Amino acid sequence: MSKTDIFGTAKRRDKREGSRTYSVSSSVSSSTSDPDHPDLEKKKQDLMAEVAALEKKKEDLKRKQKKLDREIKKRAGEIHALEGDSAGSQISFLKKNPTCRVDLDNIEISKKLPVGASGTIVYTCTVDGWNCAVKELSREKVDEGTEMAFESEISLLEHLPTHPNICKYLFHIRDEKTVRLFMTRYDANMDMFVSFKTQHDPSFFFEKQILARCSLDIVKGLEFLHSKKIMHRDLKPGNIFVQLGQRDEILKCVIGDFDTAKKVSVKNKAVTIIGTPAFMAPEVLTAGEHGSYDFSADVYSFGMILYVMITLRQPFQGDRPYLIPDQILKGKIPEISAQQLAVDPSYEGFGAMYKQCCARIAPDRPSLVQLKAVLAQLLA
Ligand SMILES: Nc1ncnc2c1ncn2[C@@H]1O[C@H](COP(=O)(O)OP(=O)(O)O)[C@@H](O)[C@H]1O
Ligand SMILES: [Mg+2]
Repeated sequence: MSKTDIFGTAKRRDKREGSRTYSVSSSVSSSTSDPDHPDLEKKKQDLMAEVAALEKKKEDLKRKQKKLDREIKKRAGEIHALEGDSAGSQISFLKKNPTCRVDLDNIEISKKLPVGASGTIVYTCTVDGWNCAVKELSREKVDEGTEMAFESEISLLEHLPTHPNICKYLFHIRDEKTVRLFMTRYDANMDMFVSFKTQHDPSFFFEKQILARCSLDIVKGLEFLHSKKIMHRDLKPGNIFVQLGQRDEILKCVIGDFDTAKKVSVKNKAVTIIGTPAFMAPEVLTAGEHGSYDFSADVYSFGMILYVMITLRQPFQGDRPYLIPDQILKGKIPEISAQQLAVDPSYEGFGAMYKQCCARIAPDRPSLVQLKAVLAQLLA
């Protein structure tokens, strides 16, 4: 992606502004070029000098604005270091300082991140110096369905109030060829985190506190989505984004990737078979033909994420992919071995939670409120 693509819209705007400025001086020029009216000629000179002075002032103000923005950023960093809570302190600082502006003309795209399955590409980028991520869709390269899914993701995120456990939407840009969604940048997704850790440290496991905190983050994000009548429908470790600390430990989890998410009402039930097989609830696999599914389908998927965090393995790992749906429909879920549960006494509790969440019958699954209460106990 070239930078000119991104800057295209802004540059055209600048040109328009330029021509507006020019038309002021040209209209002055045409109305005062009469040599029979020297007073008008003088007025013209004065006005032109005034325009030039104003232009200079504008440039000075722009410079000052940039300097102030740099200062604000620096201070935000200092406050962040003092409070030790990155997202929270920055957000509260920005709330109290509405003069802090971001120059959207100053966007730099850098690294391409591992691709998902949606036909979009995600890059790391900076927006006026702030670390962000951009999810990009090339209209020419994808079908209409993919484009609609991405547009629906943008619209959903754009209208969703911010929540600490939901990937933060910043803004989007659209032109004839591409659609770009800018978000806060996270350090990795949960799949990447687990494979990185297990590759580098064979004795790695999620400590009780971290496991409970990650689970609580996901449950809280899910509770928020469901309160807005939104089903995620593709919850899996690849769609849980994590923020890491100095020692690569997880500080926070957020739910991301909303191109399969759906806003549902009582009349408008979910009947589409959508998701990633190993993380899909049985009723989702048979949706349409045998009825609909509801929010508890996301609880099932959360259960499978818990399985990954407990065992550090993918559910049904090693099984032939086409046999997985059959197992799920029979209510068979992967076992967690006694050895895997022996890692910490609290793992018994997490293991039980996994089984409850992945109950074959949807109403048998715990509510998010119940999950929160148990996780709070495990965290204590
Ligand atoms: N805001 C973000 N910060 C960091 N990485 C991200 C961000 N958004 C997406 N990614 C990375 O890009 C991958 C694909 O993005 P995702 O939104 O899941 O798209 P897809 O629908 O293609 O799966 C994610 O698994 C994640 O690793
Ligand atoms: Mg994804």
